[in-house]
Amino acid sequence: MTQDELKKQVAKAAIDYVVPKLSAQEILGIGTGSTANYFIDMLAEHKTRFRGAVASSDASATRLEAAGVPIFDLNSVDSLGFYVDGADETDAQLNLIKGGGAAHTREKIVASCAKQFVCIADDSKWVTQLGKFPLPVEVIPMAREAVVRQLGDLGGDAVLRDGVVTDNGCEILDVHALDIRDPVALEAEIDHIAGVVSNGLFARKPADVLLLGTSDGVRIIYRPL
Ligand code: 5RP
Repeated sequence: MTQDELKKQVAKAAIDYVVPKLSAQEILGIGTGSTANYFIDMLAEHKTRFRGAVASSDASATRLEAAGVPIFDLNSVDSLGFYVDGADETDAQLNLIKGGGAAHTREKIVASCAKQFVCIADDSKWVTQLGKFPLPVEVIPMAREAVVRQLGDLGGDAVLRDGVVTDNGCEILDVHALDIRDPVALEAEIDHIAGVVSNGLFARKPADVLLLGTSDGVRIIYRPL
């Protein structure tokens, strides 16, 4: 199967996992990226089963609206039952690297409000240790070079993602060569650098369940307790 076919397969598995659990009043959190886009497209035919969605990016909000799904501002919502999103890397503890689509700050915010984070990924994203995929770090533009230097002190080689402005009006640094043996500690350490908006490690609050697309079918992997 191609990577695209695997992404469609896990998007369908997420529909089968989430939709039967939805109530008419439920608001879903929805992520960003090509896998999330397949999920949004398939969600359209189930739009009467739930109330609406909070989107993690302007792009996903536009796609959801086009699919006929009402969009809610997170500030008007108390809690979300599910957050469904892709990832750039996942390990066996369901710690993630996200932000390949420059949306990880809002993704982290929406995910933090959900009772269950359902991650959908093809098996090219499965790793034994996070960090081959450069870690996205969103920065306030005037702090960029100061942040680059401090990421260098942590062993990272930070490269500005050219021409990208996030939905928050900020920039993205892609950080290569980090040793991510302790993702929980590194997530906190990077977030404490002045000028960092957030980084793409999802380890303090990892995914709760991973639907992993393989050519032998979708594996359902729960976060080890
Ligand atoms: C966007 C993300 C995406 O979830 C991640 O980049 C995976 O994308 P795709 O589903 O296109 O492979 O974190 O910021």
